[in-house]
Amino acid sequence: MSDKLFIFDTTLRDGEQVPGCQLNTVEKIQVAQSLEALGVDIIEAGFPVSSPGDFNSVVEISKAVTWPTICALTRGVQKDIDVAAEALEFAKRKRIHTGIGTSDYHIKYKFNSTREEIIERAVAAVKHAKRYVEDVEFYCEDAGRTENEYLAKVVEAVIKAGATVVNIPDTTGYCMPHEYGEKIKFLMENVKGVHNAILSTHCHNDLGMATANSLAGVLNGARQVEVTINGIGERAGNTAMEEVVMALRSHKEYGIDTNINAKLITETSRMVSSMMNMPVQPNKAIVGRNAFAHSSGIHQDGVLKNRESYEIIDPKDVGIDENSIVLTARSGRAALKHRLSLLGVELDQKKLDKVYEDFLKLADNKKDFTDDDVLMLVDKERVSAHRIKLDYLQVTAGVGIKPVASICLDIAGEKFEATASGNGPVDASIKALKKIINREMVLKDFLIQAINKGSDDFCKVHQQIECDGNIYFGFAANTDIVAASVQAYIDAINKFVK
Ligand code: KIV
Ligand code: ZN
Repeated sequence: MSDKLFIFDTTLRDGEQVPGCQLNTVEKIQVAQSLEALGVDIIEAGFPVSSPGDFNSVVEISKAVTWPTICALTRGVQKDIDVAAEALEFAKRKRIHTGIGTSDYHIKYKFNSTREEIIERAVAAVKHAKRYVEDVEFYCEDAGRTENEYLAKVVEAVIKAGATVVNIPDTTGYCMPHEYGEKIKFLMENVKGVHNAILSTHCHNDLGMATANSLAGVLNGARQVEVTINGIGERAGNTAMEEVVMALRSHKEYGIDTNINAKLITETSRMVSSMMNMPVQPNKAIVGRNAFAHSSGIHQDGVLKNRESYEIIDPKDVGIDENSIVLTARSGRAALKHRLSLLGVELDQKKLDKVYEDFLKLADNKKDFTDDDVLMLVDKERVSAHRIKLDYLQVTAGVGIKPVASICLDIAGEKFEATASGNGPVDASIKALKKIINREMVLKDFLIQAINKGSDDFCKVHQQIECDGNIYFGFAANTDIVAASVQAYIDAINKFVK
């Protein structure tokens, strides 16, 4: 029998901290229910004291989910813990996740405190949380840069105070795998009472080593990993759940396994990506579009003769079964509705009818109907409700001429035109757009991806635009890259120009 590794999913807390990725409560419930179906053990549902929205999400997720433990984050202060306990009232299984910074950087610059005082505060926080719940997790923030001897003292003190799980976050993503593994080993060997609690990994990906570090922690004794779907999270993100799960499934020699139903990995990944407007890079391990695509003739030949010559994972094991999910012109409304719900999109009957009509038109001319095609149809329906729409866009561009764009916007039925030049067709178009929408707007992030293949393919554009200190997300898909770029910009504008 395998040793069990607990999966603590923080997609809805650490993952959701990414600008432009925020979900509303209804969407969070949908994600939480998918995480439950996937088999995660603990769902970190939010940081209740941080906002009424987060508080409410923890309450509603607690009501909507049955099996996983629901966890609420706090700082190591009484007020946060009181609010978290209140938010968890309806959870069938509940956990408070409290903690404090333990590295000298945090002790000196964040708290202007001393190592001794930090231990006192840590113990007080755990004892306070214990008044409300049995299951208390303590995080030693910036444990990655905390000296091991001192870290061991903190861990020992919080376990003695009643912590059931102790989280060792590499908050800045600084550690090397051997270093993080040795840290966990050191704690396992030097903390009195360590077997009365579970050590947890929580690794950030700033140096691209979050998964490697988490696994190094697990191989040295940690029995919980804190992860997000697709590895989403602030900066370079958190440890990707699918990577840890599939690494352990692929290396059975370690005898460690999780409760995850891997066949649901692909659909959960797509759902989170589409709901959070967070594209998955094509070469992302396990869930990227190219993760199982063999383009080289030699590889294709090898895979056809024997899959294992070039693939260590059967795509079916993570839920990629090309034959079972094909939508064709003969698929009914129910099949389309089902596919949409797997992608996290729920439509009322009227909208579904409209999308279905468009689907039939497109499906007639298309052999492979991908998830992206489905999402594009939904997007067309969503954009039709916008107050500000692109009426026309005419661009002159090429080699040896200055690009010029003329644009016309339809704003609540009234037409506005402008023309501008720029250093390229997109720049010219956005400059013309800005002549009509006279706000201080800065394009912070701009990603263009082809959906399938071929020069006649659709492209998807994801953008983040800053206005008045807030980040707004814009998305569009079009066969014309310039049009998609402008439409994504307009999509974002619709979120702040009312
Ligand atoms: O990265 C980190 O240190 C965290 C803690 C708040 C758990 O997210
Ligand atoms: Zn974190």
